[in-house]
Amino acid sequence: MGDLHARRLLLLLPLFFFLVCLALSSSPHYDAEELLRSANEEKEWLVSIRRRIHEQPELRFQEHNTSAFIRFHLDRLGIPYSFPYARTGVLAQIGSGDPPIVALRADMDALPLQEMVEWEHKSKNDGVMHACGHDAHVTMLLGAAKLLNQRKNVLRGTVRLLFQPAEEGGAGAFHMIKEGALDGIEAIFAMHVDYRLPTGSISSIPGPSQAAVCFFEAKIEGRGGDAAKPHLNVDPLIAAAFAILSMQQLISREDDPLHSQVLSVTYVKGGSSFNETPPIVEFGGTLRSITTEGLQRLQRRVKEVIEGQAAVQRCKAVISMLAEEYPIYPAVVNDEELNDHLQQVGALLLGQDKVKMGGKIMAGEDFAFYQQLIPGVMFGIGMRNERAGSVYPPHSPHFFLDEEVLPIGAALHTAIVELYLNQRCMEV
Ligand SMILES: *[C@@H]1O[C@H](CO)[C@@H](O)[C@H](O)[C@H]1NC(C)=O
Repeated sequence: MGDLHARRLLLLLPLFFFLVCLALSSSPHYDAEELLRSANEEKEWLVSIRRRIHEQPELRFQEHNTSAFIRFHLDRLGIPYSFPYARTGVLAQIGSGDPPIVALRADMDALPLQEMVEWEHKSKNDGVMHACGHDAHVTMLLGAAKLLNQRKNVLRGTVRLLFQPAEEGGAGAFHMIKEGALDGIEAIFAMHVDYRLPTGSISSIPGPSQAAVCFFEAKIEGRGGDAAKPHLNVDPLIAAAFAILSMQQLISREDDPLHSQVLSVTYVKGGSSFNETPPIVEFGGTLRSITTEGLQRLQRRVKEVIEGQAAVQRCKAVISMLAEEYPIYPAVVNDEELNDHLQQVGALLLGQDKVKMGGKIMAGEDFAFYQQLIPGVMFGIGMRNERAGSVYPPHSPHFFLDEEVLPIGAALHTAIVELYLNQRCMEV
């Protein structure tokens, strides 16, 4: 009898957990206004952090001060973290430490660009600038760290915060993963400031949203000599010219017109005299595709076309995709369910009319490395404000941030993971 009773109780256990879950976390009662209020109370703190990072921008894999600054604040907040990942990366953790574990990511590196904006907190490092908003990304994630830590007693699992180096061409995400930063994580989110969207709105798109990207370099070798006796030479310039033109047909004749690809030759080097044909011509550029498989196909054909055209002209070609130096970025593909979740959270926090459908772009983003392993969503957070002057595209020396975005991003980060964990709790 007693045994049966115990078993009955055991059967009721899931129901019990479900009710606890429901009581603690049902999203209709999620207090978005309270969260936004808490985030706004931190605005001054957030602005000061962002300005400090903006003044001391650091290039990829050299984010030493930025990383130390992040750790300083995590220490002050009493949030545990591991360091280093991929040289300067920091991995902070809030919550029980048990699954489910959900992650938020911010990139830390700046660009090799001279800031042209004259203001009090202009970059103090000549030729280096936060012109892609990574200073804001770090700040918003630190803001989320503070908010999540204040509210950690309601967290139904674990949140990891990835402060990642080298998004700009260094594939920092790839190196973070190699060192185990993604272990145990089941879903990941990241935001990027967007100068096209008004402050207070977000945009996202399910499925493929940013291109797979690689660079390439070709060297065509002939035999140099007197330009008055071309028949005695082998001219690599002609081979390069044919190769560059032929490659363009790979997009117009071989790729589905409804699929998106880019092939840009961005430099040609060869020769230095009026009277000699050169022995070698080099050229290179970038290949992009909205799918990772598309990029692999394009790479194969680029190699074949350059080698083939070189052979026609009696030259030899060597092609490199520079994968060691610039790891190939896969395409950013947003998970549909997580994208729905993001849009619901956005509507709850900002209003339904502030959640826009995003567009695809052919820029790369190393967040794609995380998405190759686990579902994730990368979305845009608006920061366009004519009055603030934040109307310039990323990688412009005039790039300027509307700092009003900072508390909004911190609150969004917080709600995304809190509500994600609540939902997971309901599924168990
Ligand atoms: C890093 O911090 C030190 C000490 O504050 C400072 O002297 C140095 O200029 C900073 N480096 C960069 C690249 O901002």
